[in-house]
Amino acid sequence: MRISETPEWQALSTHHGEIGRRHLREFFAEEPDRGTAYTVRAGDLYLDYSKNRLTRETVRLLAALADRAGLRERTEAMFGGEHINGPEDRAVLHVALRDPATSGLVVDGQDVRHDVHEVLRRMGEFANRVRSGEWTGHTGERIRAVVNIGIGGSDLGPAMAYLALRDYSERSISFRFVSNIDPTDLAEATRDLDPASTLFIVASKTFTTQETLTNAREARRWLLDGLGSDDKAVAKHFVAVSTNAEKVAEFGIDTDNMFGFWDWVGGRYSFTSAIGLSLMVAIGPEQYREMLDGFHTVDEHFRTAPWEENLPALLGLISVWYINFFGTQTQAVLPYAQYLARFPAYLQQLCMESNGKSVQVDGSPADVATGEIVWGEPGTNGQHAFYQLLHQGTVLVPADFLAFAQPNHDLDGMQDLFLSNFLAQPRALAFGRTAEEVAAEGTAQAVVPHKVMPGNHPSNAIVAPKLTPSTLGQLVAAYEHRVFTQGIVWGINSFDQWGVELGKVMANQLAPKLQSEGAPDYDSDSSTNALVKLLRTERGR
Ligand code: F6P
Repeated sequence: MRISETPEWQALSTHHGEIGRRHLREFFAEEPDRGTAYTVRAGDLYLDYSKNRLTRETVRLLAALADRAGLRERTEAMFGGEHINGPEDRAVLHVALRDPATSGLVVDGQDVRHDVHEVLRRMGEFANRVRSGEWTGHTGERIRAVVNIGIGGSDLGPAMAYLALRDYSERSISFRFVSNIDPTDLAEATRDLDPASTLFIVASKTFTTQETLTNAREARRWLLDGLGSDDKAVAKHFVAVSTNAEKVAEFGIDTDNMFGFWDWVGGRYSFTSAIGLSLMVAIGPEQYREMLDGFHTVDEHFRTAPWEENLPALLGLISVWYINFFGTQTQAVLPYAQYLARFPAYLQQLCMESNGKSVQVDGSPADVATGEIVWGEPGTNGQHAFYQLLHQGTVLVPADFLAFAQPNHDLDGMQDLFLSNFLAQPRALAFGRTAEEVAAEGTAQAVVPHKVMPGNHPSNAIVAPKLTPSTLGQLVAAYEHRVFTQGIVWGINSFDQWGVELGKVMANQLAPKLQSEGAPDYDSDSSTNALVKLLRTERGR
């Protein structure tokens, strides 16, 4: 039965008709303890979901929907290593990457836990050698800069996490992340670096990605130009992270300097695999393990807690409530933590590449809306940019506000001011200000409508004691399982990404048309042809 035809879906639809237009002011008036009642904890994470347009009944109905969709069974299937990525016939086992157990999960003949810990051990040894200065470059200099070359899941996770955990990083080494095939990315990342003390980590699950291989080739040229064209230098300045040893060797990186992972790790779920190598060099193996343990805490919570007390599942189910019953299309993620500046970008891939699908697992069209546009910026910067639309615009945007109680740096009480904004914005969004309240302040009648704050804009608040490797891991795991929950309810496969392939094929077809010095071969559509012509002319071709 299609999900929209189930009695559970129908019940939610009816329920939405009953409460969908009610105001958060009413919900809070009716349940004065809402602010403590609608909260859950997972590890160190505290979720307050009271400022959502829902009641206990909504939560009950959403939990019933999760059961009807088979969320419990699918979760067990994922943790057990079943091939839940059906279209690609693969297991989905990122949760095994942070499992402290070192044996006992054999999938497709592979002792998954053993292999995970073996790679972690090698990564740890390598990270310690780089951090201590024992690993030197070709000329004997210690490594002062690590440049991760990768894109998508092979960039966003480590780049986001490095920034998030910079306060825990080895400050004597500079860490950079190159992803874009725009040549300026590599040029800017290397312009002030010394090849003799630079280490490149080429991170690519497939080792076939155009952007990464092109940047890696250019990086190798930059290195050899700087070190006198001695090919032997490559071994001391290039390591690879991949599932594809053959392609790594073909590229010219010694597979002794390769850290592997497996096809059951999806790109956007990969930063706790060897893809996290640059991060491990930055924060060291012990703190990296703390981060993995943070992930694992929330993995176990998600696996075992009832839906009503399950933080990631509630995040996912509440988003289903808005997307499918209120018709929302976007989700704002607003970290009140400058260190989480790249977190919304990281979540964009996690959420949008996973659930931007319009067919169900069996290939039939999805019968309900799926996916959401995820966006955001750290507070308070966003307040001075786009919050106006959140407060008084006509679009309903559910928002997640994230904060940490203790600052990594407290400069003269600034953290209190910072957190007061984290408290004020969701409050203003939820409760707003009525025309009577505005008029009572002596506002001229003509201006009153402009100053009315309608409120009734929903949000979650997620709070952790402090941004640490562990709490970062907990937070990321919570969003991963939020995505999983959505995907199971919608009946889609959250683990493939065929939609990004066509553009790649077309780019490969178009590259020669731009590059060729001879007569252009215009055989695309008229718009693309005209643009090719323009670009060729602008480049004197
Ligand atoms: O283009 C999408 C994608 O396949 C992502 O899913 C992936 O994270 C990224 O490209 C990079 O792929 P790879 O790690 O194989 O270079």
